[in-house]
Amino acid sequence: MDANTLVVENLKVNYGNVQALKGISFSVPKGKIVSLIGANGAGKTTTLRAISGNCPSNGNVSFHGHSISNKQSYQLVGEGLIHCPEGRGIFPNLTVMENLQLGIVGRHSAKEHFQKNLQIGFELFPRLKERISQAAGTLSGGEQQMLAIARALIGEPELLLLDEPSLGLAPQVVKLIFEIVVKINKEKGVTVLLVEQNAKQALKISDYAYVLETGTISLEGKGSELLDNEDVKKIYLGEH
Ligand SMILES: Nc1ncnc2c1ncn2[C@@H]1O[C@H](COP(=O)(O)OP(=O)(O)O)[C@@H](O)[C@H]1O
Ligand SMILES: [Mg+2]
Repeated sequence: MDANTLVVENLKVNYGNVQALKGISFSVPKGKIVSLIGANGAGKTTTLRAISGNCPSNGNVSFHGHSISNKQSYQLVGEGLIHCPEGRGIFPNLTVMENLQLGIVGRHSAKEHFQKNLQIGFELFPRLKERISQAAGTLSGGEQQMLAIARALIGEPELLLLDEPSLGLAPQVVKLIFEIVVKINKEKGVTVLLVEQNAKQALKISDYAYVLETGTISLEGKGSELLDNEDVKKIYLGEH
């Protein structure tokens, strides 16, 4: 049986009077890609933020079998729980290289592997290598997403939380980004929790997926099963 890298139990988040997460439970087995899909406002980003210690929550989250519910985000980075946030979180006035160097902040064990991981990032995204001295804010949207993912890899994630990596990108770039996510998982052995509105692409690459609807998990199953599910087709894939 697969060990679970992440187990989320009865996770609740309130923003004032609004309950954004109403007690959701799910798990991410080691070495797998698990997706959370759902419409805008469903609570996907909130889920990732609560897991990575970036938003107060109730319930329990376990990473490698021990509770991390009371840990701070920087402590979790140190343990290899790396969050690639919605909107990419790159520093526009810093160069590509400087942004990549920030990938080791809080992750001491990755410092000595920086050069090796930099090369891995450049192999996955050769376009970044050509632009190392360029201000990150002058990159295209797709290149900025590549930079955000490469920076996350510099931190040697055991679990990578990826928030909408395909948002706002052209179809060819979306295809490339999803291919890279698969590579990171299959070749580098990184466990991935992916959040996406692009349900079709996400389900195609996912071992397992959960559908989030206004703070509640309404459906779950293997990626391939959900791709064939009539409700998913109608609501999230635009097929009738
Ligand atoms: N900082 C915040 N303050 C108040 N409400 C918020 C905040 N962040 C998110 N929300 C609300 O919580 C709900 C879930 O948001 P979010 O997790 O960003 O959804 P998703 O990522 O699925 O689009 C939405 O109704 C959103 O308006
Ligand atoms: Mg979001």
